[in-house]
Parts: sequence; structure tokens; C-alpha cells
Amino acid sequence: MGNIIDGKILAAKIKEEIREHVKGLKIKPGLAVIQVGEDPASKVYVGGKEKDAQEVGFLSEIHRLGADTAQETVIALVKKLNERKEINGILVQLPLPEHLNEELITNTIDPLKDVDGFTYNSAGRLLTGSKCLAACTPSGCIEMIKSTGCEIKGKNAVVIGRSNIVGKPMAILLLQENATVTICHSRTVDLPSITSKADILVAAIGRPKFVKADMVKQGAVVIDVGMNRDENGKLCGDVDFENVKEKTSFITPVPGGVGLMTRAMLMKNTLEAYKMQGIK
Ligand code: GUN
Repeated sequence: MGNIIDGKILAAKIKEEIREHVKGLKIKPGLAVIQVGEDPASKVYVGGKEKDAQEVGFLSEIHRLGADTAQETVIALVKKLNERKEINGILVQLPLPEHLNEELITNTIDPLKDVDGFTYNSAGRLLTGSKCLAACTPSGCIEMIKSTGCEIKGKNAVVIGRSNIVGKPMAILLLQENATVTICHSRTVDLPSITSKADILVAAIGRPKFVKADMVKQGAVVIDVGMNRDENGKLCGDVDFENVKEKTSFITPVPGGVGLMTRAMLMKNTLEAYKMQGIK
């Protein structure tokens, strides 16, 4: 019981496959990341994306803009990147400074280059089962579940959290895999009675060690999307890992779990975008 789903190994395998594929391409896929301001977490995330893109052999561009950059300037940059043939994927790192309209800026990205899957077009396509670039974190979670060899079809899957970035697309991807899906959230009555019936439990709440052992079904596959600090300042997920672990068949650790897979899926989406744009 309590097998660890190792994000490091899985992500490395996906990146290696991409690197091998890219080696054979005359024109390399290009990923552009826009970071506005000095948010410390964003700096770390963007640095990781740059490192991954370089490792797999992509053209990697990071556009770092000052915190007081005007909305029109950011929009103009996105439009310019939309036009550039050598850029196949565009990502605007969130959160943006207060004065910028995230929704408007995100939706300026050409859906064919929307490697985050955050535009209305991508989200709508995901919902309706049309070909699209799906959000990286939920896609990474699906890969992690599949890596266990456990079948998703027909299983009770419970997602805790209903964000546009994780909870909602996660539920849709699980539905596409023919799971019976329940979405829980802060207003859910008697959460443990629902989570304890989950064969697959995905925690995307944003609260340290929120999921306790008595909320988890014996033998469940538990995917922890959380990235928090505990009372001692140590990184931890949304799941009380040490106590929950023994009850599960498979569980993802934090750190070393979903986060690394999110990054790997961004590389996969960039390669997919490149293919969708018809560059051979
Ligand atoms: N900020 C935190 N996670 C993400 C992500 O996956 N994409 C973007 N664009 N910003 C983020």
C-alpha cells in the first residue's frame, strides 16, 4: 500500500521523448513566456519553464516586463507573438499585477498557441470534446493516474476544488476517461462522506494537509495538486501525506509530484501546438 507516483521520473521520461522527437526536426518548436512584475513564485515557475524548454531543445523566449507595464503594451506583445511563425506556444504567467485584465490578456492569445489551455476557445473545446490544448496541471494528473495501471473507466473520481485552471478541467478530463465524476468545493456538505467513496481522489484546494486519512477510501489513488507551506514553513500539499499514504494504493508526493508533471505537459502542449500549426 501507499506506492509513490514519482513525478520526477514520469516528467523526465516525457521530456526525454520530446527531446528525441525535437532532435529530428529542422525547425525547432518555440515557446514564449511573458512575466509581468516581480511575484517571487512566478519568477521560480518561469525559471523552471525556461530550463525545461532549453532541455528539450525548444527555442525559448522569456519576456520579463516591469510591474507597471500598461495593458496595451502586454496586449501588443501577445499579438506580436501570435504573428511570429517561430513561436508556437505563448504563456502569460499568472497572477498579473492588479491593474492588468487577466481575462482580456489571456484571451488575446491565438488558441492554436494557447499552451496553457486557458482561453475561452480552449476551455470550450475541452468541454465539448473537440481537439484542443488542455490545461497542463489536469493533463499531468491524468498521466499520473494512468501510470499506475489502474483503469479510470467506471471508477468514482472525486475532485476537490472548482477552479478554472485545475478543478473544472480535471473533472472534464476524468469524464472523458469515462469515470463517474463528482466535484466538491468549499460549500459541499459533509465532504468526507463523498471523498471516502472516491476510487480516485484529486485534491486541488490550496490548504495545507486538508485531506486526512478518514476522508480517504482504502486503496484509493490520491493525486495532490496542492503546493503550500506547513506550520514549519516546509513545502506540503493539500493531503496529509504521512497519514494518508498507507491507506492509498498510489499517492503523489509534494514536492516531487504534480508540479513537475505540469511543467512536462507544458512542453508536450508546445510540441502539440507546433504540430497543429502544420510545421513539419
Ligand atoms: N500561475 C500558476 N500556475 C500557472 C500556470 O499553470 N499557468 C500560468 N500561466 N500561470 C500560472
